[in-house]
Amino acid sequence: MPTVTFLNKQGRVAVDCQEGETLLQAGLRQGVPLPYGCGAGVCSTCVARARPGTVETDWADAPGAQNLKHDKGECLLCQSLVTDDCEILVPGKIDLAQTLAETPAHHRARLHDVALVAPDVATFQVSLEGQSDYTAGQYFLVRLEGMQGYRPYSMTDFQREAQTLNFVIKRIPNGKFSEEIFSNDVSEAKVDVFGPMGLATFDPSDPNEARDLVCLVGGSGIAGIMSVLDRAVSVNHFESHRLFMVFGVRRREDFFFLDELKRIKESAPDNVSIHLAVSEEEGSEELDAYRDFPLHQGFVHEVAERLGDGMFENRLAFLGGPPAMLTGSLALLLGAGLPVTDIRYDRFG
Ligand SMILES: Cc1cc2nc3c(=O)[nH]c(=O)nc-3n(C[C@H](O)[C@H](O)[C@H](O)COP(=O)(O)OP(=O)(O)OC[C@H]3O[C@@H](n4cnc5c(N)ncnc54)[C@H](O)[C@@H]3O)c2cc1C
Ligand code: FES
Repeated sequence: MPTVTFLNKQGRVAVDCQEGETLLQAGLRQGVPLPYGCGAGVCSTCVARARPGTVETDWADAPGAQNLKHDKGECLLCQSLVTDDCEILVPGKIDLAQTLAETPAHHRARLHDVALVAPDVATFQVSLEGQSDYTAGQYFLVRLEGMQGYRPYSMTDFQREAQTLNFVIKRIPNGKFSEEIFSNDVSEAKVDVFGPMGLATFDPSDPNEARDLVCLVGGSGIAGIMSVLDRAVSVNHFESHRLFMVFGVRRREDFFFLDELKRIKESAPDNVSIHLAVSEEEGSEELDAYRDFPLHQGFVHEVAERLGDGMFENRLAFLGGPPAMLTGSLALLLGAGLPVTDIRYDRFG
């Protein structure tokens, strides 16, 4: 088994690397605090350097690899494989003397119970051979047997010692994994998963997070936020803290998880304020069964701006959704004075 040595000016640490495992997975699994965002070749957060020719790229066309300086040995840790011992130079700000308190792991698993919940949106479950803890807001990397590459999906609830992970997936036109989920019978398919991962998390036992929340979400970007809200409800967070949330989709028929949101509202009706937004339909008549959720016209960040005067101060914010929604929501919250450290999100693409 190859030995990978991560090093920078602050120090060095050596780990083993299993066959087929990326450098990022090998490092995180053994507690090395490597930088990452998506774990899947999209965000470029995991850029490091190797001696040219010492690492193989799993996915040369990865969007996150487009600006790499190959002549300087730059590579994406999440897309690099090795067959021999090697040294990897990581950014100087990484303290290699630190060890992660919680480490992700590989699991063999079974994908099952795909259920359509809206046009082009489905829930699915992944049952692990073992079990895993995770923090609310985290995700797992999922790889269908026989398909190249892992895809990140966020858990939609909060569990300890979870054996079955719950996900929601949006259909991506021509997306290999999502088309497989929507078009073929993948029930009981074998999958490899790696996790938990992700830093857009919520831990209400941390005194700094015992705060009012704001959640701005679009479409399947609601996934990790459902986990955050589930965690909050599990400790009666909204008995003493407020929630302001805007959930947006294109058309009314695209909404899902409204019964789950209703339960969150009912847990503390006076403190939980949930608004719905549609971007491609006129009118603002509430949905019949969900009259507690005012319906608005516009994009999520526009609706939040119209409603949110004075709503954002001192809140902890969670965002989830397509890039334009994230950009608009970030601008809104930063403009309202929220420090960047109080705004948590994963970029889906
Ligand atoms: C942190 C995070 C959490 C997310 N959570 C959710 C969620 O809860 N629900 C949801 O619907 N979407 C989520 N997404 C988006 C989701 O991961 C993408 O929509 C999904 O990867 C698309 O996969 P696909 O196979 O359908 O599309 P494709 O276009 O076929 O594949 C794109 C993705 O597959 C991977 N990939 C493709 N080819 C290769 C290859 N050759 N080698 C290696 N990797 C490859 C990469 O991850 C790439 O982004 C999340 C994204 C991130 C970053
Ligand atoms: S973590 Fe490697 S590209 Fe996002």
